[in-house]
Amino acid sequence: MIHYFTGTGNSYFVASQLAASLNLSLHALKEGPVEDRDPVVGIVFPVYFGDAPDFVIDALEGLTFSGTPYLFAAATSGTSFGAAFKSIDNALQKKGQRLIFAAHLAMVANSTPAVRHHIAYAYEKLVTAEEALPILVQKVKNRTSDRSLIKGSLMASFFRTSLGKALGRRWFRLGVDAVRCVKCGLCVHLCPVQNLFLGVDAAHMGETCTHCLACLHACPKQAITIRGRYILKEDQYHHPTVPFTGR
Ligand SMILES: Cc1cc2nc3c(=O)[nH]c(=O)nc-3n(C[C@H](O)[C@H](O)[C@H](O)COP(=O)(O)O)c2cc1C
Repeated sequence: MIHYFTGTGNSYFVASQLAASLNLSLHALKEGPVEDRDPVVGIVFPVYFGDAPDFVIDALEGLTFSGTPYLFAAATSGTSFGAAFKSIDNALQKKGQRLIFAAHLAMVANSTPAVRHHIAYAYEKLVTAEEALPILVQKVKNRTSDRSLIKGSLMASFFRTSLGKALGRRWFRLGVDAVRCVKCGLCVHLCPVQNLFLGVDAAHMGETCTHCLACLHACPKQAITIRGRYILKEDQYHHPTVPFTGR
């Protein structure tokens, strides 16, 4: 199986392409037990704060494997992968497994609206990433062993401290503007951790945000705010082949 987590579709794109090329089924990571009996297992996810998202690490706890499959991971990010593979490897080692191959694909950074407006997203990175996929598929087919990307990172170590976690939460603090919200429910549908719900007046946000930014980028009324600021319609991003509706 290919297990994936995605906010804005980059990782979904990679996961679905890998699943199709390797003839494996696709599984959206979530909490709870999942049995994977395949001899080849892939984990595809975005990098957050130089690390693997907590959501992914938590979801890995519920996975059980048959024997020792060929386990590989592919991380998507804007530029860097930090300690993401080390965290995945550590989580797998707790289950008596280890990553055999780790690959990184630089794609569009969906986090840019946290820092600016009028973003010229680097769409050309998507072309480069897509071109790299057949090579990745071939490496998996050849059962390549390459753990060279499994390493630590100062950035990830900082964001694991309570100060770092607090800063990350603050930097990506999302809210709902009740005046703009039309209660279409798209954000509720997209939220991977059911942190959004429809109230009488508008959508409301709870306290378990994973920072995937799906709601921010998807809202048709730009009613989701980041640190109290609106996102511009033209700054909303999703992978061009992975629209939010119909997911
Ligand atoms: C909260 C957050 C933190 C991020 N941190 C990093 C980072 O440390 N390094 C990086 O290169 N990209 C970072 N990004 C960008 C994403 O990793 C990148 O856009 C990824 O491809 C998104 O995948 P998705 O479309 O499947 O959600 C971050 C994005 C978010 C939302």
